[in-house]
Amino acid sequence: MRIVSGIQPTGNLHLGNYLGAIRNWVRMQDEVAASGGLSLYFLADLHALSQPHVPAELAANCREMVAALLACGIDPDKSVLFNQAQVPQHAELQWLLSGTARMGWLSRMTQWKDKSGKKGDSQSVALFTYPVLQAADVLLYQATHVPVGDDQKQHLELARDIAQKFNNDFCTEDAPVFTLPEPTIPPEAARIMSLRDGAAKMSKSDPSDMSRINLTDDADAIMQKIKKAKTDPEPLPEDKAGLEGRPEAANLVGIYAAMAGTSVEAVLAEFGGHGFGKFKPALGELLVEKLAPINTRFGELRSDPGALDAILRQGAAKARELAVPTLEATYKALGLLRG
Ligand code: TRP
Repeated sequence: MRIVSGIQPTGNLHLGNYLGAIRNWVRMQDEVAASGGLSLYFLADLHALSQPHVPAELAANCREMVAALLACGIDPDKSVLFNQAQVPQHAELQWLLSGTARMGWLSRMTQWKDKSGKKGDSQSVALFTYPVLQAADVLLYQATHVPVGDDQKQHLELARDIAQKFNNDFCTEDAPVFTLPEPTIPPEAARIMSLRDGAAKMSKSDPSDMSRINLTDDADAIMQKIKKAKTDPEPLPEDKAGLEGRPEAANLVGIYAAMAGTSVEAVLAEFGGHGFGKFKPALGELLVEKLAPINTRFGELRSDPGALDAILRQGAAKARELAVPTLEATYKALGLLRG
């Protein structure tokens, strides 16, 4: 098994990032290490260029994100942890794959359609070709499994399409250059919603800080945010079907189940029939208990940027070594002379 996944270095990590992606990375890191495979996790800092950005903030966000990943349990002795910008093979492979990716495939990406809206012409070329870089990210390392949230499934399918077409067009059947990666979507809690609106994803760009639990929030802030979280006046239902049409209640129960490592059914077996006056304090305490060690470690790590840079540098050196054979095979298959 070869696991590869990336995360954009947005500042301000929150519970949605933790439960949606990072916690799953940690779980897979340990499983893969135990079975003799390898996991590679990276900051998708090159992808950040697809949107307007402030250079100083990008650097700060990268350090912030690597501190958060380490605090959550990514272990640089078990996983290769790095940022794309220190592994030029990502950008190189992207160009080589650009001859294989089709305009129509990229035009159909829902993320492109959502983000470009009616203003496609004023978007960066990088926003359009973003999925080709993402394909390069995973194909470069012969990934077998790519843990992602539901919203990235389409990009992974595109990576498979690119790999398949490249193998078809440029390789013999017994010597394909690329492995077709499988998306691995965590079953529970893949989508954590805003605490203020059960229809919107928890997001760092929501103007209301009350909409999310940040990894930097202290116990008081967490309790306060859960207390103020939007709900409805009904008590919690006895079974899962009763959560239908109650997005805010479903979100809070989902968060509880994910944090406690149990099922929604089990949470409702305990709290069904009770109002939020009982459930909310229990949820707040659970969050405080589970997030406190992460919060403490995060604070320590953030205060030593030199150590964070060293970890990324070492991870990038390993990643470059792993990337070279596939990149060279790609050049060769395309008929490009490399001396
Ligand atoms: N596009 C992904 C996201 O926004 C981040 C990402 C970049 C990624 N490259 C990747 C995820 C490769 C998985 C594999 O979440």
